[in-house]
Amino acid sequence: SLEEALYRPNFHFTPKANWMNDPNGMFYLNGTYHLYFQYYPYGNVWGPMHWGHATSKDMITWEEQAIALYPDDSGLIFSGSAVVDKNNTSGFGKNGIMPVVAIFTYHNMDMEKDGKIDYQTQAIAYSLDEGMTWTKYDKNPVIPNPGIKDFRDPKVMWDEANNKWIMTLAAGNKVMFYSSFNLKEWTLESDFGESIGGHGGVWECPDLFSMKVENSDEIKWVLLVSINPGGPNGGSATQYFVGDFDGNRFVMDDDFSHQLEAKDSIWLDYGKDNYAGVTWSNIPETDGRTLFIGWMSNWDYARDVPTFKWRSAMTIPRDLQLKKINENYYLESLPVDELYNYAENTIQKDLVNSKELEDLINHSNINLANINIAFDLKDLKETNYDFLFFNKEGDMLSLGLNNMETEFFINRTKSGKVDFSEKFAPKISTVKTSEILRELSVQILLDKTSVEVFYNDGEVVMTELFFPNAPFDKFSLSSKDKTFKIENVKIQEFKFK
Ligand code: FRU
Repeated sequence: SLEEALYRPNFHFTPKANWMNDPNGMFYLNGTYHLYFQYYPYGNVWGPMHWGHATSKDMITWEEQAIALYPDDSGLIFSGSAVVDKNNTSGFGKNGIMPVVAIFTYHNMDMEKDGKIDYQTQAIAYSLDEGMTWTKYDKNPVIPNPGIKDFRDPKVMWDEANNKWIMTLAAGNKVMFYSSFNLKEWTLESDFGESIGGHGGVWECPDLFSMKVENSDEIKWVLLVSINPGGPNGGSATQYFVGDFDGNRFVMDDDFSHQLEAKDSIWLDYGKDNYAGVTWSNIPETDGRTLFIGWMSNWDYARDVPTFKWRSAMTIPRDLQLKKINENYYLESLPVDELYNYAENTIQKDLVNSKELEDLINHSNINLANINIAFDLKDLKETNYDFLFFNKEGDMLSLGLNNMETEFFINRTKSGKVDFSEKFAPKISTVKTSEILRELSVQILLDKTSVEVFYNDGEVVMTELFFPNAPFDKFSLSSKDKTFKIENVKIQEFKFK
């Protein structure tokens, strides 16, 4: 169909039909990456939540599987996580089969309608066939509601040092940490965030994990917290905190606290379309990556975007790195390397001017927008570097650096269909750079209706959707500075089945 041809992404996961929101329960096992997701199988807007399911060998090509979890009398199946219980701490394992345990939120709509506030509880289910089919625990919930209205999205990890499971849970305007030895009985340890960070909206979908600081032996803990609304460019977005976790308590790092004082909140992605993202569990130590995926939409307009058969896609899976530069921490993200296995044709050139760059790109296949462009711009001036993608319909997407105003931007205000929601493109999305930049690397990942821009190796990321009336098939790079040289350009044309 026309809709499929124009808007179905080539290499971003979408359900075949109907509504999707948050990624849930991601784990890796025996060569397979599992992705579950908030899913309403009977319509293209949010409705009673199920967990849909997809599997992949490389996080790029996905196969949709049967629905994993259905709502029942206890409630709808809201967001949560899954862990591989290698030592069978839960006792769900049988005959040497290790169980996979899903931890999710029950949302009881009847109680909500009755005006109660304690309608969200935490529950578990287990799988003995590597995540294909699930049995709900017969003594759910495992954590009853303590009288907190927004009490959801359990993310569980194995705490190696303390030999116990840790659950991070969103609880109104903070997160709560629980611990357990068997995934069934949980003890409240502490909470974090009541008056720290961004509070423009309710806290949702937290994630806590440890990371090695790049080029050092230092281990730090990263806490992701999605908030809606209150994002840097409106609506939903994901912030992060860097600190230490001792099995009981998360304490912010002093340097990170200083960073926060200047900014209020620090975001994983400054675009409008990366929400509720969390990391994969059970990634082998030999791999060692921290792998992340987000929902590529925003509650401000997710229900209104002009795709009808399906609604929403996930972001490209990302490899997260924690870097420390001059006392400042950066949670950087880049697309996973697996993506480049699909590069069929690579064009690479050193020292080109903007005219040569335009020719290179205009001769490649931006038509299908399967292009990854990595620029290296050296010797920038205090001016604009504006990357424009356009088509014969007069639609235009522009993005880049405004070095005068010290900001990166994405401008989708004239990118095609924008008037389906007033909140979609009321203004240009921006993020401040710390200073006037003299060097810049830009990676731009396009896939029909989305752009993911990674500046300086993923130090600053912006992800946004757009819905052109025809594919973008023309490119130009405009700037008042006529002298700049592009150190190196690499265009990868992808090929997907
Ligand atoms: C985040 C969220 C979660 C909740 C789910 C419901 O987008 O609001 O907090 O569990 O979506 O679908």
